[in-house]
Amino acid sequence: MEIVSTVATMQQRVKEAKGKGQQIAFVPTMGYLHDGHLSLLKEGRKRGDLLVLSIFVNPTQFGRGEDFEDYPRDLQRDSELAEKIGVDIIFAPLINEMYPRGYATYVDVEGITEVLCGATRPGHFRGVTTVVNKLFNIVQPHVALFGNKDFQQLTVIHRMVLDLNMPVEVVGMPIFREDDGLAMSSRNVYLSGSQRQQALVLSQSLEVARRMASVGDLDSHEIIETLKEKISTQSEARIDYIKICHQLTLEEQRKVDADSVLLLAVFIGKTRLIDNGFLLY
Ligand code: PAJ
Repeated sequence: MEIVSTVATMQQRVKEAKGKGQQIAFVPTMGYLHDGHLSLLKEGRKRGDLLVLSIFVNPTQFGRGEDFEDYPRDLQRDSELAEKIGVDIIFAPLINEMYPRGYATYVDVEGITEVLCGATRPGHFRGVTTVVNKLFNIVQPHVALFGNKDFQQLTVIHRMVLDLNMPVEVVGMPIFREDDGLAMSSRNVYLSGSQRQQALVLSQSLEVARRMASVGDLDSHEIIETLKEKISTQSEARIDYIKICHQLTLEEQRKVDADSVLLLAVFIGKTRLIDNGFLLY
C-alpha cells in the first residue's frame, strides 16, 4: 500500500493503472476510519483492480464554528486498517495541495442542497460537491462508493454526476451500525458515556416510525410528533430536524409511501448526529 500526498503523483498512478486497463474503485472519506468506512472499502475491493481511499478533512464543507479543527485525525491508525482491507493507495493531500493560493472554483447543486442538512449548514454541500468533483478528477474512478448514512449527500452526488455527465458509477451502501443500533460515525468519539446512551434515541426513533408505518399509521405529522415527544425525554437531546421525504426529490411528504425516508438530525450535547432509513420496505 502506498500513501500519496500530491495530486501529481496520484494522477501518475491513475495513468499507470489505466494504461494496464485496470478498473479503479474509490472511497472518499475524511478519515478516522470505522467499520462503516471499512464496509465501503470491502465492497470497493471487490469492484476494482486498484482500490483508492482518500483521507482529507475538507475545510470547505465545514461552517464557521463547526468542528473542522477538532475533527478526529489519525493517519497511522487509518493506514493500518486500510492495509488490512487491501487498499492499494491512500490519497491524503494537504490543504494547500487541494486549495492552493488563488483557488476560486466551486460546484453547486441547487434545490436539494437547501433543505435538511443544507438548511442548518449553509454552504456545506457546496464544499462536499466541490471536493468530490476535484477528487473524481484526480482519481478518475470507474466506481465510487458512498454510505446511505449521509443520505442527502448521496442524493446530491447522484444529481451532480448525472447533471455533469461524469463517467463514474456511484454506489450507495447500507448504514453500518453498532450492535445497539447507533449508526457508526467518526463524530461518535465526541460523546461521553451518558451521551452515547442518549444517542440511541436516533435509531430507536427510526424503529418507532417503522412500527407505526407497518401498522398503517401513515400520517407523517403524527409520526413526527410521536418522535419529537420521544426525543424530548432525553436531557441532552435537541432536535435539528425530523422529516419524512421522498427518496429522490427530498420533498417532504404528508403521507408515508414506499419512497419515504425518515431523516433525523439531533444534537446530543454539542455533537450533531444524523440517521435515516426507509419506513416501508
Ligand atoms: P466521511 O464522513 O468520512 O464519510 C465517508 C463515507 O463513509 C461517506 O460516503 C459516508 O456516507 C460513509 N459512512 C459514514 N458512516 C457510515 C456508516 N455508519 N455506514 C456506512 N457508511 C458510512 O462523507 C464524508 O466523509 C465527506 O463528506 C466526503 C464525501 C469524504 C467529502 O469530503
